[in-house]
Amino acid sequence: MAKQYKRYLVTSALPYANGPVHIGHLAGVYVPSDIYVRYLRLKGYDVISICGSDEHGVPITIKARKEGVTPQDIVDRYHAIIEKSFRGLGMSFDIYSRTSSKTHRRVASEFFRKLYDEGKFIEQTSEQYYDEEAQTFLADRYIVGTCPRCQNERAYGDQCEKCGSTLSPDELINPKSAVSGSVPVKRETKHWYLPLDQYEGFLREWILEGHKEWKSNVYGQCKSWLDLGLQPRAVSRDLDWGIPVPVEGADGKVLYVWFDAPIGYISATQDLTPDWEKYWKDEDTKMVHFIGKDNIVFHCIVFPSMLKAHGDYILPENVPANEFLNLEGDKISTSRNWAVWLHEYLEEFPGKEDVLRYVLCANAPETKDNDFTWKDYQARNNNELVAILGNFVNRALVLTQKYYAGVVPACGELTDYDRETIEELKKVKGALEQNIENYRFREALKEAMNVARIGNKYLADTEPWKVVKTDPERVKTILNIALQITANTAIAIEPFMPFSAKKMLDMLAVEPFGWEKLGSMELIEAGHTIGTPALLFEKIEDEVIQKQLDKLAATKAANQAAEAAQHVEEQKDPVNFEDFQKMDIRVSTILAAEKVAKTKKLLKLTVDTGIDKREIVSGIAEHFTPEELIGKQVLVLVNLQPREMRGILSSGMILMGEDASGKLVLLQPSEKTNNGALVG
Ligand code: 2FM
Ligand code: ZN
Repeated sequence: MAKQYKRYLVTSALPYANGPVHIGHLAGVYVPSDIYVRYLRLKGYDVISICGSDEHGVPITIKARKEGVTPQDIVDRYHAIIEKSFRGLGMSFDIYSRTSSKTHRRVASEFFRKLYDEGKFIEQTSEQYYDEEAQTFLADRYIVGTCPRCQNERAYGDQCEKCGSTLSPDELINPKSAVSGSVPVKRETKHWYLPLDQYEGFLREWILEGHKEWKSNVYGQCKSWLDLGLQPRAVSRDLDWGIPVPVEGADGKVLYVWFDAPIGYISATQDLTPDWEKYWKDEDTKMVHFIGKDNIVFHCIVFPSMLKAHGDYILPENVPANEFLNLEGDKISTSRNWAVWLHEYLEEFPGKEDVLRYVLCANAPETKDNDFTWKDYQARNNNELVAILGNFVNRALVLTQKYYAGVVPACGELTDYDRETIEELKKVKGALEQNIENYRFREALKEAMNVARIGNKYLADTEPWKVVKTDPERVKTILNIALQITANTAIAIEPFMPFSAKKMLDMLAVEPFGWEKLGSMELIEAGHTIGTPALLFEKIEDEVIQKQLDKLAATKAANQAAEAAQHVEEQKDPVNFEDFQKMDIRVSTILAAEKVAKTKKLLKLTVDTGIDKREIVSGIAEHFTPEELIGKQVLVLVNLQPREMRGILSSGMILMGEDASGKLVLLQPSEKTNNGALVG
């Protein structure tokens, strides 16, 4: 028999505070975890839900450097955006904490110190990449180069985002510093390593023997890590952003972000309640980590080894990781802005929080990567939420208003069909529980929607609007049953769509029922007056969806242009020095510029070449206005064979830089010099 736990500790991966949250994060981690904790709370269990921002790590410092602000500025900005948007979507964390907090610094330092004092780390000096220009070691993402597996030229020292491989800086081909662009050198540096190889036996037994019930994607990844053999992992870095390594002689070193981040679950619990130890130190607590698949190794291998080494804490009972959600067929990407951002969705779709929760759960990447499309979002809203759930609830409430002025009629004698319907309804609770408790939230949502489906079918089959003319007594029973089903629907959908559940309770003018009442046909008493019905969901029109598709198309076009701009033409065939010397290139000043009549592309320029003043016709009118050019010193090929263009004799050529997207830039001397100065 499954173990009975006294309480639940549910954690949701701490999102990096270097950007807002998108639908991929939501479908992978936060929507499922929120469904789970809402369900447990409804059941009346002792449960806490922990989340917060992960505020350390190199991407944050890189972003800060790019924007010319401090890492603290970056995390303050995104922590606020993320927390607000999570709350907006109804994420019911008991605490949304942050890893730059004082408590976290203390808890993470103490954790490290205990392991250090007990000799659980290996101290090792090794050669690592160092940027001599910027005078800094290059950890993880500070080093870029070519991926040895897929040849992507922009792979990072810890990961290639194109093929998803985990990398080490030494594997990169042609490594370069992301700070200065220079080629790094190797320098010795000391770090602390957690000897994961020593925990292999424990992990094998605990996971491979003890947790065969884990989702197959999670179990499978753990097995392949263990089968490959584990290596010691550095838990410190040479960086100036993070929690300082709390030992003597560790200046300039901080805890590796993946060492401190999961300890954030412990520090957040400490900030939540003085009674935190019962959640972390008592075997009667069931700890569940909700994460995305890229976090599996850290939550199933590294963090449990840390917890084991520490010795005071419990281990997770399950780690239900989801796969990835794509968007319109492409991988979601923060850097390419290929995402639906939660904070933007909430602004653009006010009142439609539950629609997003519904779609992301119905289409969650539970066993394989899945695709979010706006057409599917529209179809699920219009055909499922509006046509089934909204329609049923609305009919039950409106008919009660219409026939009985909102006073719930009594239930009379039941027909066989009524009994069958009630029987079917009673089955839902067990199925829903089974699915939620086994982390099958898509199936669970189907079961919850089944309550509304049963109700919809019941009304369609019993046709109270017709029967009212012939047998008004019977209609009382029908509507009593329909209202009981409505109340059941409110219970069943609460974990998934809390806003709509609340609206339904308000429309029924009742208090929340609690989970155990699900299946009861005595939720609403005869004689009770219900409130005013309002539509739960509204149809989403094509224009709304098209606007979102247009927005994505614009992003795609911008990305393609940016990518094209990075493409570099291959080198041309060699020329000899004599040939090169034949070209007479002079610094010249543009004295006048005007458009050539009846052309789109041509400008007539008058330039002072130092030799003479002459006219040049140049096809740059779509790139520069005449005003932008006048007075500029540029480089001119003065001995180009003159030729007539549109009746003007053009004597020379202005030199330009052109990238692969066709963008032109003027080539200018870095400081003013005399016209006629030779270039060569
Ligand atoms: O992948 C991520 O977004 C990480 N910031 C998750 C950290 S989870 C936990 F360990 F804090
Ligand atoms: Zn790669």
